[in-house]
Amino acid sequence: MELVEARLTVLVDNASTFIDGRITEYGFSMLIEARLDNGDSTLILMDTGQTGRPLLHNLELEGVSPKEIDYLVFSHRHSDHTGGLRRFLEARKGKPVPVIAHTSLFEPSFAIVNDRLYEIGMPISREEAEKLGARFILTSRPLNIVPGVTFSGEVPSRWGPRHTKLVYRVSDDGGLIEDDMRDDAFLALTIGSEAYIITGCGHAGVENILGYAAEITGKKIAGLMGGLHLYGITKDREEEIIESLRQHPLKILAGMHCTGPFIQKRLRDEFPKAYKLIMTGGKIRLPL
Ligand SMILES: [Fe+2]
Ligand SMILES: [Fe+2]
Repeated sequence: MELVEARLTVLVDNASTFIDGRITEYGFSMLIEARLDNGDSTLILMDTGQTGRPLLHNLELEGVSPKEIDYLVFSHRHSDHTGGLRRFLEARKGKPVPVIAHTSLFEPSFAIVNDRLYEIGMPISREEAEKLGARFILTSRPLNIVPGVTFSGEVPSRWGPRHTKLVYRVSDDGGLIEDDMRDDAFLALTIGSEAYIITGCGHAGVENILGYAAEITGKKIAGLMGGLHLYGITKDREEEIIESLRQHPLKILAGMHCTGPFIQKRLRDEFPKAYKLIMTGGKIRLPL
């Protein structure tokens, strides 16, 4: 069996045009309808936003019940992606759902902003989530969810730096150290000879994500969509990123969520054909 079409809908992004009553918050969530060549269709939810309110509201506007979601995938453990888990599970009224994520999903996570410490990890415990119907499948290795839809697992740092500004974790001796975000994963959608990549925050770094995506799919990377966490990067780093994006035949490049406004403009200027500005309520139909 093969994936022949994927229909993506952005359910939560930092920005919204408020088209048709959609609401949003700082965070990310994407609905993916994967259609196979045998006519089967699977609904995969990637991330849940920060509170679950815009997620459930916008899902309803799509005419999709939370109970219809076949798989939930978490890109990483930050609460602007995982914070909606409780409301999502409650809305399913106990119907079990497989939840796919990296093995570090429940590891505590912190941010230091303006000298203040914030806890930004998964806001509910594994036990609580399981009581509400979550069935966790935690892996650091790539995992095929349905034909053509692959969860990357841990992305190695073999191609470039990671984007982990201001985020911290607890070290083995109990102190706070910079978090390399090894839990940051992506989804690869493989259709024909092409792969399209969806990121949550892209903490693993653009080069690593694209390099690993090409390695695990064995395909040309035709799309990169989602958060890229490029706030406040240096000019040199910006040049490196543009150069690395040029190495792939991208038909779509859509920075969302935490990508950052200045780099968005640069991406639009450098990739005028591939660049798409997509926010809450936006839809993408693959392949292009
Ligand atoms: Fe994020
Ligand atoms: Fe993040």
